[in-house]
Amino acid sequence: MIVTIDGVAASGKSSVSAGVAQALGVPYISSGLLYRAATLLGLEAGVDLGQEGAVLGCLNPPPRLEPLAAGNRVWQAGRDLTPDLHSTRVDRGVSVVAARPEVRAWVDAQLRALPAPLVAEGRDMGTAVFPHAGAKFYLTASPRVRAQRRAHERPEEVDAIEAALIERDRLDTTQSAPAPDAHVIDTGALSLQGVIDAVLARLPA
Ligand code: CDP
Repeated sequence: MIVTIDGVAASGKSSVSAGVAQALGVPYISSGLLYRAATLLGLEAGVDLGQEGAVLGCLNPPPRLEPLAAGNRVWQAGRDLTPDLHSTRVDRGVSVVAARPEVRAWVDAQLRALPAPLVAEGRDMGTAVFPHAGAKFYLTASPRVRAQRRAHERPEEVDAIEAALIERDRLDTTQSAPAPDAHVIDTGALSLQGVIDAVLARLPA
């Protein structure tokens, strides 16, 4: 079975997906890391991130997602890109890169080639990539709560992080929407384990 866990930025998707996947004994995949990898490589090459062809030209050799249980990693040839994928400049540029149809097609093809069962995490896993998934979830939380969580992972103050998250939500609107058959979970009042339990409780027997 495929379980999809989509949601807004910093809604806890990666941690929840890792926990759900561990409980089920299956791998999880973080689709956002591939968009982040394309963004990082574009930034390093100094290309205009809005120029799809230029960004695609940086994906040679193509970065590959390694779906490790302890945290997914992305490799390009022998280089582990993962430590550089969560910088503020990648956060800022990624929505523009992710809006390009050919970049999305490149990510989607890589994800669909992975063998089920798995838990897939991102923005459009339940809508575009795995529309026939066995169970779908969409995580939300207020911008303030999300900024407070992410403040542990970024150097900026909570106010700046909140403003950046609101802007990224706006830029991601077209590529991020709950599937009509998704369970929507507001994670604001829940602990990480509470969200994992809420997901597990809604899985079909
Ligand atoms: O963890 P966070 O929500 O901040 O980011 P992420 O899941 O790593 O995704 C980073 C960016 O990639 C998002 O802001 C989207 O622009 C894009 N993305 C997407 O368009 N579709 C996906 N399935 C996953 C990510």
